Amino acid sequence: KKGSHRTFMEKEIFEQPGAAQSALFSRVDSNQRRIRLGGIAEHMDELLQCRRVFLVGCGTSYHAGMMAETVIERLCGYSVTSVLASHFIDCLPHVGPGDMCVFISQSGSTADTIAALEYANKCDALTVGIVNTVGSSIYRQTDCGVHINAGYEASVCSTKAYTCQCVSLLMIALCIHFEQRLRQNQPVSDLYDEIFDGIITLPDALSEALDESKHIHEIAKKISAASSCLVLGRGFSYSVAREGALKIKEVSYIHAEGIAAGELKHGTLALVCDDIPLVFVAPCDRYMPKMQNAVAQCTARRTDKAKDGVVIITDDTAWVSAGFKSVIKTPRVHEMVQPLVSCVPLQLLALYLCEERGFDVDKPRNLAKSVTVE
Ligand code: UD1
Ligand code: M6R
Repeated sequence: KKGSHRTFMEKEIFEQPGAAQSALFSRVDSNQRRIRLGGIAEHMDELLQCRRVFLVGCGTSYHAGMMAETVIERLCGYSVTSVLASHFIDCLPHVGPGDMCVFISQSGSTADTIAALEYANKCDALTVGIVNTVGSSIYRQTDCGVHINAGYEASVCSTKAYTCQCVSLLMIALCIHFEQRLRQNQPVSDLYDEIFDGIITLPDALSEALDESKHIHEIAKKISAASSCLVLGRGFSYSVAREGALKIKEVSYIHAEGIAAGELKHGTLALVCDDIPLVFVAPCDRYMPKMQNAVAQCTARRTDKAKDGVVIITDDTAWVSAGFKSVIKTPRVHEMVQPLVSCVPLQLLALYLCEERGFDVDKPRNLAKSVTVE
C-alpha cells in the first residue's frame, strides 16, 4: 500500500529513516559501543583469517559495495575490491580460501550475482550474503550473512534497500574491527568510534535530508527539460555520483553519467556547456578544495550567470554565499557515512524529474524488479 504517497518510490524514499533503524535494530549495543550481528558471529574466526574482500553486486547493490570499500579497508585492514557481478563471472578472478566474497542483493535472486556466488563457492572462498529477502537463493547458498531488514521494496528503483545495504556493510566492518582489537587486547580506533556514532545517528540525519524535498522539487522543475546531465563526486562521494546517475536515468530517462570529478580534464570537460545540468556532490570533507576547483572548471565553461543548471549537494553553506542558487543542504555526518545522506537528495531529484516529465515512476520502461536471467 502506498498510503499517503503518490508512488512506491516516493514512499520508500521517505521510509528510509525507519528502514535504517530496522537494519540497526537490536544489533547496536550502545552500552558496550559494539555491533552484534547474529548472522556472522559463528563465522568470526574464518572472517578474521581473510586477507582479501570482494564486494559483488549489480546496479545499486554494486554501488553499495563501492560505498563501503574504503571503510572496510581502513577499519579492518583487508584489501577490498568492489566488482560488478557480471564482470566477476566474465573475468573469473583467482579467489579461494583466505578470500571473503560478499554478495549484495536486495532480491537475493539476481542471476549474475548468483552465478558469481556459485563460482566463489566452487573456489572455496568464504561467501557472505547481504540480502533483503529472507529465504532467497543468495541467503541459502552463502556460508553466512546479514539480512538488511529494509522491509518489502516494491519500486523497481531501489532506494531504501541501498541505504540498508550500506548500513549493513558498515556494521560488518565495525563488528570485525571490534573483534580484531578485542583479540589483540587493544582498544578500538578513533575511526571506529566516529563511524559508530555516525550510523547510530543516521536515522535522524536521513530525516533531516528528506526535509529538503520541496526545494529539490523546485530544482527538478528547472532542469527537467534536459536530455543529459552529469553527476560529479570524488573520494567518498564518487559512489554516490554513480548511484545518483543510475537513479536519474532509470526513472526520468535523462541520460546521466556519474563522473569522478578528478577525471574531468581527462575527457568529460568537453561535454560541459549550458545545455547539460551538472550536479556536484560536494560535502565538506577532505576533498572539498579539489571539488571547489572542479566546480570552478565547469562554471568557467558555462554562460548562465544565475547558475540554475549547477546543483550542489552539500553540508557547507559557503556555496550559497558563493552565489549558487540550487544548493541542496544535507546534515553533516562523518565523511565516511556522508554518502548515505548525500544519496537522499539524488533519489528525490530522480523522482521529481520523472514526475515532471510525466513518466510512471514505479514501472520504468524495459526494466524488471528482479533480474533472474543473465
Ligand atoms: C535476526 C533477525 C533480524 C533482527 C536481528 C536482531 C530474521 C531473519 N533476522 O537477525 O531481523 O534484526 O535478529 O534481533 O528474522 N544468512 C546467510 N546469508 C545471507 C543472510 C543471512 O547465510 O545472505 C544467515 C546468517 O548467517 C544467519 C541467518 O541467516 O545464520 C540469519 O541472519 P540475520 O537475519 O542477519 O541474523 P540476525 O542478526 O540474528
Ligand atoms: O535485487 P538486486 O539488488 O540484486 O538487484 C540489482 C539491480 O538489478 C538493482 O539494484 C537495479 O540496479 C535497481 N533497479 C536500481 O534502482
